[in-house]
Amino acid sequence: MAKILVTGGAGYIGSHTVVELQAVGHDVVIVDNLVNSNPVVLKRIANITGVEPAFIEADVRDADALAGVFSSHKIDAVIHFAGLKAVGESVEQPLRYYENNVNGTMVLCQAMANAGVFKLVFSSSATVYGPDAPVPYEESMPLGQPSSPYGASKAMTERMLADLCASDARWAVAALRYFNPIGAHESGLIGEDPQGIPNNLMPFISRVAVGKLEELSVFGGDYDTPDGTCIRDYLHVVDLAAGHSRSLMALDNPGLHAFNLGAGKGVSVLEMVKAFEAVTGKPVPYKIAPRRQGDLPAFWANAEKAKRELAWEAGSSLEKMMADTWRWQSTNPNGYE
Ligand code: NAD
Ligand code: WQD
Repeated sequence: MAKILVTGGAGYIGSHTVVELQAVGHDVVIVDNLVNSNPVVLKRIANITGVEPAFIEADVRDADALAGVFSSHKIDAVIHFAGLKAVGESVEQPLRYYENNVNGTMVLCQAMANAGVFKLVFSSSATVYGPDAPVPYEESMPLGQPSSPYGASKAMTERMLADLCASDARWAVAALRYFNPIGAHESGLIGEDPQGIPNNLMPFISRVAVGKLEELSVFGGDYDTPDGTCIRDYLHVVDLAAGHSRSLMALDNPGLHAFNLGAGKGVSVLEMVKAFEAVTGKPVPYKIAPRRQGDLPAFWANAEKAKRELAWEAGSSLEKMMADTWRWQSTNPNGYE
């Protein structure tokens, strides 16, 4: 079994992936600067798996700190989640996003090369396909022109990693393009804990249901979709976590390997609201509000490549995603606070 460095491992997807990695027998070291996470998550992980992962509070842009991590741990591969992810904030603070996401990955790759570690799994996003790609998205499509600095930072990083792989055959990189991860570990001990008012649909719905927010604004009811609301490809975060441990298999071959990690089917905003209400019995009052700038009407994954090459599928039902979201939200109404 391998020793895996997980950057951003205290965050939403990172923490679920740490649980999965430990469950399949890997040894985990987390590096996180806690800019968007709470160290309590480390104890929660230990409650689930029986093992508290090694944790170093550090920034991935800190080359000296990374050199220290690589010299004190014999790392086999890195899974790189650390990054900023709020699309709207990236429009207001583009330099902060490029600095953190692109430069952070650059500093990390330099530290890896110095330490002789050439296996990397990178958190990419469906947003790299850009607004003009036809649906469903396939990995063979070229990178597009994402409309936000956040999305551009992911496309730029993928380009940088492809150039790196082309320059040196020791590198093996998996670029995992996530669609819309939701849900929580079924223990209810770890989950998504956004600060302030959530930007994303699922945490907004669950906070309305728990009484912390009054009503959901459905951004746009006049899209060219069956019910007029936007369609996305939602997948369970625990399935997504398993996709990371599977993707380590792809790192036996050098080069950049892109994989869509999605369920491969689309669900509308109103279908999400109805599914949540049906599973939890909690009403979610909503109103149709104006469209949100930058939203695409509909996209979902062609997820065949991950099925074929990684033997991975996002198998959880929408009902399970809703039930697990609600268990986390209702038993932790204030998140990790
Ligand atoms: P998150 O904010 O919960 O986790 C990111 C973690 O990285 C946090 O714990 C944060 O403290 C840490 N971090 C940020 N910048 C850092 C830095 N410079 N040094 C060290 N640690 C740093 O986000 P998440 O939802 O778990 O997303 C993880 C990754 O997946 C991100 O790169 C994100 O862009 C990407 N992604 C997320 C989604 C999604 O919908 N959640 C979709 C596609 C891609
Ligand atoms: C889903 C749908 C909204 C909130 C974003 C990033 C993407 C990736 C995942 C990180 C949309 C609608 C939402 C609300 C609503 N992130 N909605 N009311 O926009 O598909 O993707 O998160 O990599 O890069 O762009 O996800 O959850 O914000 O929205 O009606 O209060 O829900 O319009 O149709 P999105 P989301």
